[in-house]
Amino acid sequence: MKGTTSRTELLIRIDRAAGVPVRQQLERELRAAVQSGRLPAGTALPSTRAFAQDLALSRGVVVEAYEQLLAEGYLRARRGSGTRVAPHRRINTLPPVEEPQAAPPRYDFRPGLPDLRLFPRRSWGASVRRVLATAPDDALDYPDARGVACARASLAAYLNRARATVAGADRVVFCNGSSQGINLLCRVLRDRGVRRIAVEDPGHADQCTDIRSLGLDTPGIPVDSNGLSVERLSRLDVGAVLVTAAHQYPTGAVLTAKRRTALLEWAARRGAILIEDDYDAEYRYDREAIGALQGMAPDRVAYVGSASKVLSPALRLGWLVLPPELVPAVSEAKRHEDRGCPALEQLVFADFLERGGFDRHLRRTREEYRRRRNTLANALSRHLPHVKVRGVAAGLHVMLELDTSVDETAVVAAAASRSIRVYGARAYYAKPAAAPPALVVGYGGLRGTDIPEAVRQLADVLAGHAKRVKRTSSVKVSSAT
Ligand SMILES: Cc1ncc(COP(=O)(O)O)c(C=O)c1O
Repeated sequence: MKGTTSRTELLIRIDRAAGVPVRQQLERELRAAVQSGRLPAGTALPSTRAFAQDLALSRGVVVEAYEQLLAEGYLRARRGSGTRVAPHRRINTLPPVEEPQAAPPRYDFRPGLPDLRLFPRRSWGASVRRVLATAPDDALDYPDARGVACARASLAAYLNRARATVAGADRVVFCNGSSQGINLLCRVLRDRGVRRIAVEDPGHADQCTDIRSLGLDTPGIPVDSNGLSVERLSRLDVGAVLVTAAHQYPTGAVLTAKRRTALLEWAARRGAILIEDDYDAEYRYDREAIGALQGMAPDRVAYVGSASKVLSPALRLGWLVLPPELVPAVSEAKRHEDRGCPALEQLVFADFLERGGFDRHLRRTREEYRRRRNTLANALSRHLPHVKVRGVAAGLHVMLELDTSVDETAVVAAAASRSIRVYGARAYYAKPAAAPPALVVGYGGLRGTDIPEAVRQLADVLAGHAKRVKRTSSVKVSSAT
């Protein structure tokens, strides 16, 4: 190529076989691009010489086309700045997609979100640079649909060490968040004849909707302070169950040892699959987290994990550790879905894991969230001593049980009018209308220093709604582990 070719990519197509003069085609293409807004006002067009060379036309044809569009007012030519798209010639614009831009609330108790200010930018950035400098060219090829082998191995080693799983690289599938992992897995189970997958009630509403959209039935299993009721589960005819054993979402219960054993026995008896969403397992503030169920029955449990709550949901980095018999079908489903997750991100994550960045980040954030939870616990005891707090000292949220006389929706609306965003628990129940009023209160995104005042204001809101009070169940303050 000579140096005269254009540096501007305009995607103009000239079809010599079309039987339409090329000058006319060029004019029409440029006009349409301006009208549609594809070439916005001010866009610099290539010089006639460069453009002619790019399109393999004679320069005279381009000069004539430019002159015509200048005359029509679509283009404007200025000495020194070349030819540009004229202002205000965009005609066929599509109506802009409405993106509501509500002002952020003063206090947002959003659950399920880590503090994005704590993302380890520096060490993650160092891993990005290292990977770019050292990854072989082959790493830029289409990845194995399960993910890059060495990244799967690093993840498996981490999970075996920190979560007591029995994982190997061959059983890991990287996914776009754990949500995609659960969807793919449920699709595969459906294709193998499973018709019903039990879910926790209350539970993650989106996951339940996703599973139902696959044509599966999702009977809800009640959850109490010991976690999912295995006794109720065992009365049902289901092929799998989705369970948040480490920290139930949203009640915050931990599945007791007795129920874990009962659940595994049930799965073995029924030949069912346990889908273990190892939600929030990394954050346990008053004791060591219990190991994953998967480690006790790796051939029966499909383990699901995610970086969304510990690093950032924007990474869309999740993973499955599968029973061997499910690996081929799930990786094939993943291949059909999107040809695999981005390889460089997996390599960055693997580097971050191997150099201890993930462990350091967890230690740092665990301590920070433990402090915040204690601040929240103290503020609740002080300002809302009669509200019952559900959930163990873990994760990034607690559930506040409101008096049954309280209208949850009205509380959420009243809080919003004072620029406090709180989240009602009804949406998590299979039958929202029958659900007891409660709030799911996240503290991941709130600054520790804001928590006392945020709770005080929430207490003000609730004071206007509570008629009767419930006996206090105090929230335990946890010391550093
Ligand atoms: C129960 C539960 N599991 C898992 C996730 C993580 O989903 P993902 O990994 O797709 O971001 C969430 C996020 O809200 C959740 O609430």
